Parts: sequence; structure tokens; C-alpha cells
Amino acid sequence: MTWSGRKQLLLWIAAALVGGGALVTILIRERAPAPARRALYVIGVPERGAEMFFGGQQCSFCHSIRGHGGQIAPDLAVKRPGTPPMGWFATAMWNHAPGMYRNLRTGRSFPQLDTQQMADMLAFLYQSSNFDRSGDPVAGEKVFRDKGCITCHSVRGAGGKSAPELSGLGAGGPNELTRAMWNHTQSMIEPITNTLGHWPQFKGDEMADLIAYASQGRGVQEPRKENKPGDAVRGWNVFQARCIQCHSVRGHGGSLGPELGPERDLPLTTMQFASVLWNHAPSMAKLGRQNGIALPQLQREEMADLAAFLASLRFFEPAGSPFVGEGVFKLRGCAGCHGADAEGTQLGPRLRAVGDALTATSFTAALWRHSPKMIARAEETGVPWPILEPSDIGDLVSFLNSQQRAN
Ligand code: HEC
Ligand code: HEC
Ligand code: HEC
Ligand code: HEC
Repeated sequence: MTWSGRKQLLLWIAAALVGGGALVTILIRERAPAPARRALYVIGVPERGAEMFFGGQQCSFCHSIRGHGGQIAPDLAVKRPGTPPMGWFATAMWNHAPGMYRNLRTGRSFPQLDTQQMADMLAFLYQSSNFDRSGDPVAGEKVFRDKGCITCHSVRGAGGKSAPELSGLGAGGPNELTRAMWNHTQSMIEPITNTLGHWPQFKGDEMADLIAYASQGRGVQEPRKENKPGDAVRGWNVFQARCIQCHSVRGHGGSLGPELGPERDLPLTTMQFASVLWNHAPSMAKLGRQNGIALPQLQREEMADLAAFLASLRFFEPAGSPFVGEGVFKLRGCAGCHGADAEGTQLGPRLRAVGDALTATSFTAALWRHSPKMIARAEETGVPWPILEPSDIGDLVSFLNSQQRAN
């Protein structure tokens, strides 16, 4: 495989796992950020991140994950990541580095994380904070009634008899149920719209609640346990086989439906993803009919795999623009030490177009590694600590990967 010139096969990573998961590498056709430079993508393994968190790196001395661990610092699983999630984690760590550092001066050393370890840590933090809330069966019964499902379906005998009883469905786990819903949307769109007068829309956690109600007493109340993690590599194959005729990712694919690449804001948990698919099903089916493309039926794990794939796009490489990045670099005060063109000054090293191209993960790792020195330098010189926004990460990475201006 060559890394020169034209379109390249970019090695893509993902830790991402909606609802609990494993780790993967995705191949996606992509333009390299700069022809001569190769980005080294690494694969994060959440289990290794967990070991560091609770073991060697002692994050749990101060932080907890859903109540397990130290109480000095915020619980890192309680907050939902912002968008883009990778940018959120990167900026959360960066923005709080001085606070962490002050805490650490009381004797502990600043935890060292190389790029691989950062990938593992981010994969772990992402997985911990991004799980589907267990549904509430009481709220779910109301959803079942309010959405009109009860008109045709029953759960444990209660409800309409013209459509299959839904209580058995939870048994296969939430992915199985959302897959069944998706597969049946095509034949159900007309009857449901005719009977109810509209296509019911799901918001927030309603899908999780409905599933909790349907599967109550069948041991699937906690989606996380039964939800087999998807595999993003397989998901990319499913996407190419079943969705790409209508949807594109980074410009590759059809244009009947919206682009689903990292720029598009999509929900990340299995249930939220299922809601989005359900909500849009009638328009998808209609456009498909007009253009002679049938909506695909999904087999076994394909729903979980697709969700993992789409989530991984969002997580790992937040999109960015080198032009916006150039402005951000000045606006946030990085230029004050590193120079307007990131060419380096005596206060901070040259950052632009040196070594391998940066990825969001290696950038975050570099920031983390150097933060103790940067904090010290900022204190010496009175330069205020730059506060970053989640969307900055993609822009900064694009800027730093772009070629230096020739002048
Ligand atoms: C000595 C205690 C301590 C250790 C060890 C520590 N942290 Fe922190 N961390 C803090 C404190 C205190 C804050 C809040 C700082 C602030 O708000 O300025 C924080 C904030 C954070 C945040 C931002 C949270 C948010 O809600 O925005 C992240 C992410 C984070 N730490 C990750 C880590 C990771 C990963 C490790 C292990 C490699 C670690 N921390 C080790 C004390 C610590
Ligand atoms: C107008 C009647 C009607 C309404 C209203 C309706 N459905 Fe259905 N549903 C059906 C019929 C009929 C089938 C079987 C169709 C098929 O097999 O393709 C079905 C199948 C399903 C299946 C697949 C069942 C299986 O055994 O594989 C699921 C899941 C489902 N519906 C969920 C829902 C949910 C959730 C709602 C409420 C938002 C709902 N349905 C509203 C008529 C309805
Ligand atoms: C026949 C063409 C077609 C196929 C095949 C198709 N879609 Fe769609 N999709 C659409 C259209 C059109 C929309 C916009 C619908 C709307 O605006 O309500 C859409 C919307 C969506 C949305 C919501 C996007 C948003 O930002 O709100 C998601 C997610 C989605 N599709 C995923 C998929 C997945 C995953 C597959 C493969 C299993 C797939 N689609 C297959 C045409 C298609
Ligand atoms: C107060 C001066 C100062 C500011 C402001 C500053 N840096 Fe730095 N930066 C440094 C110094 C000094 C180093 C070298 C630290 C070391 O060697 O450990 C460094 C190192 C880095 C590195 C690691 C370089 C490498 O070789 O791996 C990156 C990436 C970086 N800075 C990015 C930024 C970004 C992005 C901003 C703005 C959000 C910023 N810096 C703001 C002084 C600063």
C-alpha cells in the first residue's frame, strides 16, 4: 500500500462501542491530510483503559466511574460527552489540567500517557459515559399507549390483537428489538399511518422505556448487559452493502439521503439511533420507492454493527478546517507561545508539519504529556491558560497538519 498522492486507504480506528464494546479498525477511503505525511492511527482498548484508570495511572485515586473510585474529583461517567465526543474528552482533560495539576502537587506525579495509552483511556471513558440508560418500564407502558402501539400490539396480553405480541421481543436484547422494528417498518408504514393518522415519533429515552416495558420480567431490563457490542468494521461493510446507495460518508456514496459522516450530528447510543431510524423510516421508504431502491432488511447483528460504525466516525476524528483552526490557534492564545503560524518561539516549540501527521488521539496525548511544562510556563509568564471548546480539536488538528505557508 502506498501513501502517496491520490486517495488513500486510511486506517481508521474506533473504540466506540455503543453500549459496551470492543475495539476496531476501519478502512475508509479518504484523502490524506497531507500527501507526504502519514498519520499513525492507534486502536484504543477500553479494557486496558480501565486497568490504567483503576490501577497504574491512579485516576481513580481522585475520580470515580459511576460511583466507584475516589471522591475528590468529578465522576467521569456521569457527564454525557458533548459533540463531537472526542473533542469533548480532549478539551475536558485539557481545560482541567491546571486544576488536576494543583491537586497533584500534593505529592503525586502527573500521570504519564503515551498515544496508545491515551487511546485506551479515551476508549474507556467514552464507553463508560455512553451507555443506554436502563429503561423505565412504567414510563414505557405510557409510551406503548401514547404512541398508539397498543392499538394493534399487546404486551403480556394487554392491548390489540391484530399484530404480534411484543413481550417476547426483549429476549434477544435491545439490538434485536430495534432490528425487528426496522425490518418491519416497510410493511407497517401504511397500516400504522392509516390507523393512527400519523407516524409516531420517538424522543429522548422513550425507546429504552418501551423496551424495558416490553421485556419486563424477562430479565432484559438492563440493556447494557444483553446488548452485544457491535463491530465497527463489520458495520462499515453493512453500510456499504445496504445504506451507501442513498447515504454518503465523507462524500463517498449516494445523495438521496443526508451525508452520515462525522460532520452530521447523530445520536450515539443504540436506542437513540434506533429512534432516529424509526422516525425517518417513512421518508426513507418513500424516496426509496420513487427511486426504485428498497429499504434493506437487516440480519442478526447488523443493526448493532451499523450503530458502532456510525458512532466510531463521530468519536475518533472530529471534522475540522485548517482555516478555522488557524483562527482558533490565535484566538485561544496558543499562538502567543507557539507563534502565529505554529512555527515556534522561545516560549514554545514549533508544532506545524513536524513528524507524523497528528490524529485527535495523538494530539490529545501530546497536550496531556506536555501540560505540566506548559502550566509552569504559563504561570511564569502570566499567559492565561487557554480554554478550548470541543469543536476546536478537529480544527486545530487540521491546522497543525496542513503545510506551512510558503513565505
Ligand atoms: C490528584 C487527583 C487527580 C488525579 C490523579 C486525576 N485527576 Fe482528573 N481531575 C482532577 C480534578 C480536581 C479535576 C477537576 C479540575 C477542574 O475542574 O479544574 C479533574 C478533571 C478531569 C477531567 C474533566 C472532567 C469534567 O467533567 O470536565 C477529566 C476528563 C479528567 N480529570 C481525567 C483524568 C484522567 C484520565 C486521569 C488519570 C490519567 C486523571 N484525571 C487523574 C483530579 C485528578
Ligand atoms: C396499525 C397497527 C400497528 C400499529 C399501530 C403498530 N404496529 Fe407494529 N406491527 C404491526 C403488524 C401488522 C406487524 C407485523 C408486520 C410484519 O410482520 O411485517 C407489526 C410488527 C411489529 C414488530 C415486529 C414484531 C416481530 O414479531 O418481529 C415490532 C417490533 C413492532 N411492530 C413495533 C411496534 C411499535 C413499537 C409500535 C408503536 C410505535 C407499533 N409497532 C405500532 C401493526 C402495527
Ligand atoms: C432508499 C434510500 C435510503 C436507504 C437505502 C437508506 N436511507 Fe437512511 N435516509 C434516507 C432519506 C431520504 C433520509 C431523510 C429522511 C427524512 O428526512 O426524514 C434518511 C435518513 C436517515 C437517517 C437520519 C439522519 C438524520 O440526520 O436525521 C439515518 C440515521 C439513516 N437514514 C440511516 C440509514 C441507514 C443506517 C441505512 C442502511 C441500513 C439507511 N439509512 C438506508 C434514505 C435512505
Ligand atoms: C504559556 C505558553 C504556552 C501556551 C499558551 C501553549 N503552549 Fe503548547 N507548549 C508550550 C511549551 C513550553 C511546550 C513544550 C512542553 C514540553 O516540552 O514538555 C508545549 C508543547 C505543546 C505540544 C506538544 C509538542 C510536541 O512536541 O509533542 C502541543 C501539541 C502544544 N503545545 C499545543 C498547544 C496548543 C494547541 C495550545 C493552545 C490551546 C498551546 N499549546 C498553548 C507552551 C505553551
